[in-house]
Amino acid sequence: MPQTNAEAQIELHRALAPRYAYRYSFEFSRLFQEDWHAEMISHVPSDAERILDLGCGTGFFLAELEARHPGSVGLDISHEMLKVSDQYVPDARLVTGDAERLPFATGTFDVVFCKGSLHHTRDHVGFLANCREVLAGSGVLIMSEPCNDNPIIRLARAVLYRRSRHFDVGDQGFTRNGIVGLCEQAGFEVERVRKYGILAYVFAGFPDHLGVLRLVPGNALLTRLFIAVDRILCALPVLNLLGFHIVIVARPAAR
Ligand SMILES: C[S@@+](CC[C@H](N)C(=O)[O-])C[C@H]1O[C@@H](n2cnc3c(N)ncnc32)[C@H](O)[C@@H]1O
Repeated sequence: MPQTNAEAQIELHRALAPRYAYRYSFEFSRLFQEDWHAEMISHVPSDAERILDLGCGTGFFLAELEARHPGSVGLDISHEMLKVSDQYVPDARLVTGDAERLPFATGTFDVVFCKGSLHHTRDHVGFLANCREVLAGSGVLIMSEPCNDNPIIRLARAVLYRRSRHFDVGDQGFTRNGIVGLCEQAGFEVERVRKYGILAYVFAGFPDHLGVLRLVPGNALLTRLFIAVDRILCALPVLNLLGFHIVIVARPAAR
């Protein structure tokens, strides 16, 4: 039995690594992930050079980053996930390490990305403070994490995280105010908060969990439609409560 959360995450992601390749193996699911990645990458300042993807996993996001910003660094606690990254992004610099103990000097990066890694850790403020530490003063943190503002989504996640062997029972989503508060406690000023993913997230995001769209003719076209509808809903008051993820852009507050 794993003794620590770090050991539990290594164990969990050992089993998950092959599922990610499956998740990205359909045109419709890749379309959705690429749109999500483009939304995050759109916040990279034009002069940014040194970029870290924290919790890069199997490297699909890192591959898109690397295409636009060569020399990006990917760090993950799971060597099994990184082995897949190595196939997809052979030229990227990959580091096996723990986000709760980062092996980089203060101010090393212009941008730190976290896509879905914060909620796997237990010391959220510590994790974010580490991001703050390795960012240059003018740097930017770009994060996307599961959002639990909607009580139905919160309940569904709680059940899934407890029942499914693809999650750890201690993993949890965040409310908008909760995650903004965590960023502020860790020394960030939050610049932008936007919900992301409703229909496309559910139907196209995770064919390893919900594969119904695989059987639907024209699923790529339908995914494009879902993405467009989601973008409108996520921009509207109240309806944005339907969003499954929250994208945050934050900068180090003046010390
Ligand atoms: C949900 S996956 C997301 C992977 C990738 N960012 C993506 O979007 O496909 C979460 C990743 O965070 C990594 N992770 C969990 N805890 C970590 C920690 N303490 N330090 C570094 N990586 C961690 C896991 O190994 C896993 O690869």
